[in-house]
Amino acid sequence: MILIDGKKAAADLREELKKEVLSLKDKFNKVPGLTVILIGDLAPSQIYVRNKEKSATEVGLKSEVIRYSDSVEESEVLKKIDELNNDDSVSGILVQLPLPKHIDKQKVIEAIMPEKDVDGFHPMNVGNLSSGYESSIPCTPLGCYLLIKKIEPNLNGKKAVIVGRSNLNGKPMTQLLLKENCTVTITHSKTNDLKGECLKGDIIVAAVGIPELVKGDWVKKDAIVIDVGINKTENGLVGDVAFDEVSKVAKALTPVPGGVGPMTIACLLKNTIECFKRANK
Ligand code: GUN
Repeated sequence: MILIDGKKAAADLREELKKEVLSLKDKFNKVPGLTVILIGDLAPSQIYVRNKEKSATEVGLKSEVIRYSDSVEESEVLKKIDELNNDDSVSGILVQLPLPKHIDKQKVIEAIMPEKDVDGFHPMNVGNLSSGYESSIPCTPLGCYLLIKKIEPNLNGKKAVIVGRSNLNGKPMTQLLLKENCTVTITHSKTNDLKGECLKGDIIVAAVGIPELVKGDWVKKDAIVIDVGINKTENGLVGDVAFDEVSKVAKALTPVPGGVGPMTIACLLKNTIECFKRANK
C-alpha cells in the first residue's frame, strides 16, 4: 500500500512555487500578494490563518492578515473587500470561514472580485469550473486532485466515487475528475447502499465529515482512497475513512493528519500565483 505523503507533496509544490515567484519577480518586478481576512478568535481558524501566512511568506509571496473582532459590522468587512479589490498589490483575497452569524457568508463571498477569489467560492468561478473554463479552483479538492494524479497520471475511464456533496469539496472534486474523463458518482449521507456505491470506485474521495465512515469492506481492491475528513473524536483526530482496515485493501491512501491538509494550503499559494499571472498577462 502506498501511504500518500501529503506533507512531502506539499513541500515539493511549495519549492516549485518558490521558483515561480522568483521568476515572476524578475519579469514583473513585483510579487503576488495574498490578503486573508480573519474575523473573531475561533482557535481552528487562528491556526489555519497562521499556517497560511507562514507558508505564503515561505514561498516569497507578499502576505497580509487583517483581523477583526467578531462584533465587526458586515458593512465594514464589505468596505475592506472593496478596497482590496481595487488594490493592485493584492492578487488574492481570502475571508476565513466560518463567519459570525450576523455576517452573510454569501454576500461576503460575492463581494470578492472573481479574479481575486483564491478560494474559488464565487459563483462566477463555480460556474466557470463546471463549464470547463479557466477559474480559481477550491484549494482542498485541487490538493486531492494533485495527489490522485501523482499516483495515477491517466484517469481516463476510471470510476470515481465522491462521498459528500459540499460546495467546498464534493461538487468541485466532481468537476475536476470529470475533466479527467472519470465516470463520477456523487454520494452522500442519504445515499441508498453507500457501501455498494463505494465498492464500485477505482477512486474514492471521502469528504462527508463522518468519522471512519468508509470501512475496509467498502473499498475495491487496489482503489485509490483520499480522505478529506478531519473529525475530533475521543480517540483523537480521525478521517472519514477507517484507516487501518482500508489500508489493507487500497492501493494508495492518505493519512489524517498529513494527507490532504498540507496540500490545501500549498494550493492556496498556487491559486494566488495563478491570479497574479492572469492579472499580469
Ligand atoms: N475554513 C475552512 N476551510 C476553509 C477554506 O478552504 N477557505 C476559507 N475561506 N475558509 C475555510
